Parts: sequence; C-alpha cells; structure tokens
Amino acid sequence: MTNSDSIGGSPLPSQRHLFEIPDDVAFLNCAYISPLPKASLIAGNQGLRRKAQPWTIAPADFFTSSEAVRKLFADLVNAQADDIAFAPSVSYGMAQAAHNIPIRKTQSIVTLSEQFPSNVYPWMDLAERTGVAFVSVPRPGDDDWTSALLSFIDGSTGIVAVPHCHWTDGGLIDLEAIGTACRSVGAALCVDATQSVGALPLDVKRVDADFVGVAGYKWLLGPYSLGFLYVAPRWQRGRPIEHNWIARKDSEDFAGLVNYSHEFQGGARRFDVGERSNFALMPAAEASLKLVSGWTVPRILETLRLRTEAIAQRARSEFGITSVPARRRAGHYLGLRFTGGIPSDLPMRLAAANVYVSVRGQAMRVTPHLWNTDDDVEKLFAVLKTALS
Ligand SMILES: Cc1ncc(COP(=O)(O)O)c(C=O)c1O
Repeated sequence: MTNSDSIGGSPLPSQRHLFEIPDDVAFLNCAYISPLPKASLIAGNQGLRRKAQPWTIAPADFFTSSEAVRKLFADLVNAQADDIAFAPSVSYGMAQAAHNIPIRKTQSIVTLSEQFPSNVYPWMDLAERTGVAFVSVPRPGDDDWTSALLSFIDGSTGIVAVPHCHWTDGGLIDLEAIGTACRSVGAALCVDATQSVGALPLDVKRVDADFVGVAGYKWLLGPYSLGFLYVAPRWQRGRPIEHNWIARKDSEDFAGLVNYSHEFQGGARRFDVGERSNFALMPAAEASLKLVSGWTVPRILETLRLRTEAIAQRARSEFGITSVPARRRAGHYLGLRFTGGIPSDLPMRLAAANVYVSVRGQAMRVTPHLWNTDDDVEKLFAVLKTALS
C-alpha cells in the first residue's frame, strides 16, 4: 500500500470527546498504546461484570461476540471471517506460522534490521532449530526498504517475515511488490501489521500474504492481549500450536464435549488461542473495531497524514529535524531524527509537560490519532523550542 491509498478519504474532525483524555494531556503516542475509547471501556466493564454473575453467561455467548469481532477485523483487511484467528500477541501468531511453514536446510529466512522482536525471535528460533540461514536486511540509507528487501529475495528464500511499516519511524514496505517477489520464488510471506492495520489500508488478498499478525491495542484502539492472525486459506488445514476444546468441531454442544473430535471448527478457527471468548476484552474490542470501521481507514489515514506531514515540515523548518520522506513513509506514522542524536533530557522534558511520544531506535516517534488537536501539536513544539534553543 502506498500513501496514494488515502485518496478518497476526507479528513475527520477531532474525536477527542470519545476518549477520556484530560485537556492538558497531549498524547501523541498511538504507536505505543492507544487510549481505550469510552464506549469500549463501558462495554468491557459490562463484560467483566458478567463474570460476577455467571448465570448470565450462556453457552452461545462463548461464540457470538467472538464471531462478530472476527468479521469486523476481517472486513478491515479484505479477508473473510473464516480467515481470522484470535492470537493474544503477534509472537503467538508468528509461533503458529513458524510451526506450519516447511523450510529446507538450504533456504533462508529474511527479516529487516531493527524490526519489532515479535516477528524476529520466532524466526531466529526456527533458524536455530533447522539450521537455515537467518538474514537481516540492513537499514537502507535512502529509506527505500522495499528495494533493499527485494534485493535479498531470491531462489534460496524460504520465508520473508516483515512489517507493513517500520515501527521506529514509519518507513513503508510495499507489500504488494514483496508478495509478488515471494510468489515468484516460492517463499512464504509473514507480515506483522500491528503498526498499520486500522490506520493504513491493507488488502491481504492483493498482497497474498501467508500469515498476518496484528496486535489489537494500538491502531485498532482495542484492549491489551486481544489480537488477530490472518491465515491464508492455503494454511487453514494446518496444525495449531495448542489444542483447545472450542476450536474443535461441534464445540457449541457443551454436553457433547466428552465426545472428543478429531475435526476442527472451520477456516482459521483451529488457530484460535485457548479461552478466546474473553468476556471482558471481547466486547471492548468489538466496540473499538466498530468505531474504526465507522470512521473508515481511508479517512483516518488522510486525517493522520495531514497531521504528521505538518509536524514533519515544521520540525524541519524550525529545528532542522528530519524524518523519512513522505513518499517512503506510512502516512499515519512519523519518527523524528535529530542530528547528533535525541537530546538525552528531551523525553523527560516532554513528559514533564504532559506531551507523550516515544523513542525507538534512533527515532522519536510522534504518532497522533483522531483524539489529537492543534493544541497538542503546539504543546509539542513549545517543548522542542525550549529544549533545543
Ligand atoms: C510492530 C509491532 N509488533 C508487535 C508489537 C507487540 O507485540 P506482541 O503482540 O507480540 O507483544 C508491537 C509493540 O510495540 C509492535 O510495535
């Protein structure tokens, strides 16, 4: 996906009223953890309360909210509900992928340098267990991750495990080009789209990814530890890393659970994490996903693209601070680069002023969302002005 995907989306007005954010807090850190929307908090509280009165929980409730959430997430990535499994974390999802993709000793696993660990450690582990080569594509000087990555994909590549945009600074990877290259050499493509789905369009069918893991607590505005794994239809007869009762055929019949089944529920459901019907988190995730899909991803992207681009330009003109050029950056995501490194007292000064950003690698991430206002941006620049002059 490229920034041109935002065309067609008109910017949205501030949605701050839907969140519990005090006026003096400038939270520009969605890439860290999004605030839970008020509606999701209410839904989550109601869900948690049901556990105090378990007689209100019917067997059907183990299925209804999860299936609604599965469909809401599937719609965001142009998949079918059947293609989606629940994974509490990206590392869990990638463990499922690593458990299923066959690899030969002569092949390699390709990742990006400084990539988020949850899409690295499972592959390092697979490389250690199988003796295949583990390759980390060096950071390109021109921020063109796509060309750099393409130059590493060849006949010996078995698995490509990459993000949709780099978590440190938003550097964009053209997944359709990578998907085409993977197919041409017979490699599997495993994507960590945690820092994009919900804010940047991702069409898993066009990319033709094999597995896509997404944590739910950032751009999906959901609760912690409820995430997703897209599983391409070609892997849906695979072997899950754990075996739980609800993933088996006819698990709706609680009395019949004593009759063990060797068959699974349909599609990717066999990969669902155990106790996936989380009565507190699932309704909260449902409320969050409804908000995101109501706003629509193109409109979210356009709003955030305008916001991050304005911050990038101002940071450059007022302080000489650089960032990944707009054409190579995911529109919703910004990492600021300081000549000579990030001043050591800057994060502390920002936090003292109630301005929240995060430092990852060499970049200071500034990742606003729809709760942000022009005033939040003014607060950021006021601190930069005192800290850098
Ligand atoms: C790119 C990316 N992937 C995944 C995660 C979270 O990983 P996990 O769900 O395995 O804890 C993060 C958290 O910062 C992230 O930035």
